[in-house]
Amino acid sequence: MIVLRPYQSTIAPNMNYTSPVKICCIGAGYVGGPTMAMIAKQCPDIQVHVVDLNQARIDRWNSDELPVYEPGLDEVVKEARGRNLTFSTQVDAAISEANIIFIAVNTPTKSFGIGAGRAANLEFIEKCARQIAKCSKGHKLVVEKSTLPVRTAEAVKRILSSAANGATFDVLSNPEFLAEGTAVQDLLHPDRVLIGGESSEAVERLAQVYGRWISRERILTTNLWSSELSKLAANAFLAQRVSSINAISALCEATGADVDEVAKAIGTDSRIGSKFLKSSVGFGGSCFQKDILNLVYLCEHFGLREVAQYWEQVVVMNDYQKRRFSERIVRTMFNTVSDKKIGIWGFAFKKDTNDTRESAAIHVCRDLLEERARLAIYDPRVPESQIREELQLAFADSVGGLSDKHKKLIETNVTVVGDAYAAANEAHAIAVLTEWDEFKSVDSRRILEDMRRPAFVFDGRNILDRNKLVEQGFEVHSIGRPSK
Ligand SMILES: NC(=O)c1ccc[n+]([C@@H]2O[C@H](COP(=O)([O-])OP(=O)(O)OC[C@H]3O[C@@H](n4cnc5c(N)ncnc54)[C@H](O)[C@@H]3O)[C@@H](O)[C@H]2O)c1
Repeated sequence: MIVLRPYQSTIAPNMNYTSPVKICCIGAGYVGGPTMAMIAKQCPDIQVHVVDLNQARIDRWNSDELPVYEPGLDEVVKEARGRNLTFSTQVDAAISEANIIFIAVNTPTKSFGIGAGRAANLEFIEKCARQIAKCSKGHKLVVEKSTLPVRTAEAVKRILSSAANGATFDVLSNPEFLAEGTAVQDLLHPDRVLIGGESSEAVERLAQVYGRWISRERILTTNLWSSELSKLAANAFLAQRVSSINAISALCEATGADVDEVAKAIGTDSRIGSKFLKSSVGFGGSCFQKDILNLVYLCEHFGLREVAQYWEQVVVMNDYQKRRFSERIVRTMFNTVSDKKIGIWGFAFKKDTNDTRESAAIHVCRDLLEERARLAIYDPRVPESQIREELQLAFADSVGGLSDKHKKLIETNVTVVGDAYAAANEAHAIAVLTEWDEFKSVDSRRILEDMRRPAFVFDGRNILDRNKLVEQGFEVHSIGRPSK
């Protein structure tokens, strides 16, 4: 049986699906906000209502300072907001008025109970399903936009089947493949849109929405379970490439090979390809680690021990890469960074986003603070409150408690500054932890004048012009390259 097929519009719409589309999206986060803004922009006749429990987040979606930083997103939101795009906390009303309901809530790794540290916490998904069951009448299409373990739709369907008002539902899986930092372009020109479902009419209904701006060949339909699994598998494959090149970077440092040269040499093999072969201090973001751990948990659940171990190694390698970087800083700086100022350039998990979830910077900063370094942190898009909150979480114990010692350490040893120069001023070292473009064009002579000697640079993203910096008098340590 062929389960992956380009979408073909051959099915006559079911009686249930003749009324105009009205969309509700539960969850106004990094996925729900941009995705719905794009649907509203491309389909001016479709009402799109995005709801969230978080009032502060909704207020920001309704303001000039959106809660999500993405290049080009302001324009998309401004075009549709107030026309056919609304943001509110009126979850019940939005569910009851819509005929297509997207669930785009967070699915973090469980931190307690069975499967803690691996399984996905589906509490928010279940709450959404119960609320949809409670507030619905007639027939509705429920779309899983969140990334979910395989067979979650089964549970969602069971909960929905208990709807009190005789409402009926079709459940679809429509995972989101956008990448933060390029979300607008990814939504405008996706490699593919994936829709998994059992009812051809329901799949048709959703495909018609995307079909307004995405060519039919790029709309793929599968069964529900293939769609749910494909999202986890795609993230696992992407993260695996990063861990693979990072593993090679350690060998490069030991042997004198240059990881960027190796990546180019292997990436030009068309069977391998050049994308996602950039070695770094380690991958971050809310998805890769969470989704791989979720995959590992699923494999263990189904008794596939070797498969679980295989994928888990991708996360193990990433942890090693982050730890290796901070250890290298300490070792290079004469085995002590205590009371030394280190300028931290970048805190977001990648450039062009304000998202710091699982950012490699958090781990490196925590390790350096444990060594009593003084950190001056600069990120162009991440506010001070968010940086401090992430560092507090990094030091928190398993039940979220923060010791007085660590609280004081963060208070006294961390300053958050307004530009890259302030971070480098009087510093013993600079650590580049996010690949923001502005770091490539700083006035390095000015930086050098302001720094202590030796002026160490640890480039965790390999973005700086290493030869130029060395010529000017810096001591540069990059990922996967012999030190200069
Ligand atoms: N961030 C990404 O790049 C990305 C990409 C693809 C897929 N995903 C997946 O999409 C999902 C959402 O991710 P995100 O990054 O947007 O998360 P997020 O944390 O930014 O947003 C989720 C939002 O859902 C809200 N919420 C939770 N429960 C709710 C409820 N019962 N009613 C109303 N609102 C509720 C939260 O308040 C939050 O604002 C996750 O499953 C994630 O794995 C994320």
